[in-house]
Amino acid sequence: MLKVENLNVYYGVIQAIENVSLEVNDGEIVTLIGANGAGKTTILHTITGLKKATSGTVLWDGKDLLKEEPSRIVTHGVAHVPEGRHVFVDMTVRENLEMGAYRYGRKDKDKVAERMEAVFQRFPRLKERQNQLAGTFSGGEQQMLAVGRALMSDPRIILMDEPSMGLSPLLVQEIFAIIREVNRQGITILLVEQNAKMALKTADRAYVLETGKIKLSGDARELLRNDEVKKAYLGA
Ligand SMILES: Nc1ncnc2c1ncn2[C@@H]1O[C@H](COP(=O)(O)OP(=O)(O)OP(=O)(O)O)[C@@H](O)[C@H]1O
Ligand SMILES: [Mg+2]
Repeated sequence: MLKVENLNVYYGVIQAIENVSLEVNDGEIVTLIGANGAGKTTILHTITGLKKATSGTVLWDGKDLLKEEPSRIVTHGVAHVPEGRHVFVDMTVRENLEMGAYRYGRKDKDKVAERMEAVFQRFPRLKERQNQLAGTFSGGEQQMLAVGRALMSDPRIILMDEPSMGLSPLLVQEIFAIIREVNRQGITILLVEQNAKMALKTADRAYVLETGKIKLSGDARELLRNDEVKKAYLGA
């Protein structure tokens, strides 16, 4: 399980994250919702080592990820689907997927081929278009590719940063269906979203982040009915 404890993160003198604690149990979908600038991405970046914390711990199976080399975090089964997808636009779909498997290095070609086959099975469209440049993909296709790339590392947990951003309503439904399906196959998910409604409908538990602090937390369905949440995040 993932256990974030008393996390404090600064950008210069500005404190972006204040004493944040949260947990994601094995097999769960946990969502972290909050407005623009609340600090959602900062938390994910701190977990994956892209941003240094001032204090706190990020325990993953009892190991403190904050003490790990960022490039090694993926070897512990932690994958990241970054905000804005960040696919490599000048590379083909296949090359993008191979990048997701860098933890296996050049030696373990069989493992990479096995992962590629698993991803192609889940996303036949990526297989059909494996030689197409990722930059020519639509937003929805790029999001699928970003999820596929994360799956290449055979993760136990995926940290997803606003996967529904910029997608049409139909594709939003599709991406959330994919998230549920990936979870059903045994992968734990920490989902950052601004689409609070869909995120709360999809997740088991949720945390509400407000200007760097956890304001509320609990069962996702209950938070969906919470008046404060309704007013601030569900436009009701
Ligand atoms: N590189 C940076 N330098 C300085 N301040 C930053 C930097 N990155 C983020 N911040 C600030 O930290 C705070 C949290 O930002 P963060 O990107 O984590 O928010 P977010 O919840 O992901 O927002 P959004 O929903 O818009 O993606 C914001 O006030 C932001 O301006
Ligand atoms: Mg963000």
